[in-house]
Amino acid sequence: RKSTPGTPQETIVTDKFAFAFDIDGVLIRGGEPIPEAVEAMKALNGDNEYGIKVPYIFVTNGGGKTEQERCIQLSKQLELEVSPGQFICGHTPMREMAERYNTVLVVGGEGEKCREVAEGYGFKDVVTPGDIIKDNADTTPFRMLNSSEIENSRARNFGECEIEAIFVFADSRDWACDQQIILDLLMSKNGRLGTRSETFDEGPPVYFSHNDVVWSTSHDLTRIGMGALKVSLEAMFKAVTGKEIKTTAFGKPQIGTFQFATRLLQQWRKDTHGINAPPETVYFVGDTPESDIRGTNLFNEQAENTWYSILVKTGVYQPGTTPKFTPKATVDNVLEAVRHGMDREY
Ligand code: G3P
Ligand code: MG
Repeated sequence: RKSTPGTPQETIVTDKFAFAFDIDGVLIRGGEPIPEAVEAMKALNGDNEYGIKVPYIFVTNGGGKTEQERCIQLSKQLELEVSPGQFICGHTPMREMAERYNTVLVVGGEGEKCREVAEGYGFKDVVTPGDIIKDNADTTPFRMLNSSEIENSRARNFGECEIEAIFVFADSRDWACDQQIILDLLMSKNGRLGTRSETFDEGPPVYFSHNDVVWSTSHDLTRIGMGALKVSLEAMFKAVTGKEIKTTAFGKPQIGTFQFATRLLQQWRKDTHGINAPPETVYFVGDTPESDIRGTNLFNEQAENTWYSILVKTGVYQPGTTPKFTPKATVDNVLEAVRHGMDREY
């Protein structure tokens, strides 16, 4: 489809290029849209000097809710409709692990939300830290469950159950408690609580939905995130057992996340715009050099130079410093990023 300038009524969808957006620090900060975000979305939807619409998807490391719920929230914040068909969060690719394990521990997020998400992905038997504390309150000496946690937790005899894998879906709301329970499992015999391995190499694997040490939210300065919990857990395992533990992280900058995003974008362009060929360029707009820019650049090397990294100054990256991973372009904000991509195309 040829993209020619025109009035909004004549707006056509370009098949030449597309955008992918990080969320925290690019579009949203602390639950509020970044000032230029709404205008940037309007520009993609035809409010631009070229009279075109540009397909786009969202790729966030965040999570803690179902994709459906996150999209409803994002639609309100950005004043447009966002569909799960154009959305990936940190834990979305974990869906593909549901068949592999029977009983799993799911950590992080508000209340029982992440259990719901995991069950929605098809995980068969999902345990939360609350379940374990309900079964044995001595697990975490300084943590009492509140009445709603007691009501929603599912006690069982954990002495008889093998937890086969640990998934950290979203940020922990109680590091001490969650780390104690993860550590207990890592040091156990085959994921059986209450046991201690002699070799410390028979505990379940641990998967994190991403590895961001810091992220950008309502505070002026960055806040520690899930990557910090990962570092902390690894150090603690070493301090207690003298051994190294290998953990796995999903999310950006993992190549797998960008491959997943490529498939999603392809499907989205096909289903909503009837475009069958891949785009010549995907502009990825992010605020975190270590995950967004690093991942986009790495992926670009194997994606025949089709991914183009744009760094914004509204989040983790601080202007005046040299980013650890060099973007193709650095701009002030997401609206400038959209303009940069469009201007480069025409
Ligand atoms: O916890 C979320 C955060 O680490 C990053 O989210 O949208 O910037 O990838 P995002
Ligand atoms: Mg971000």
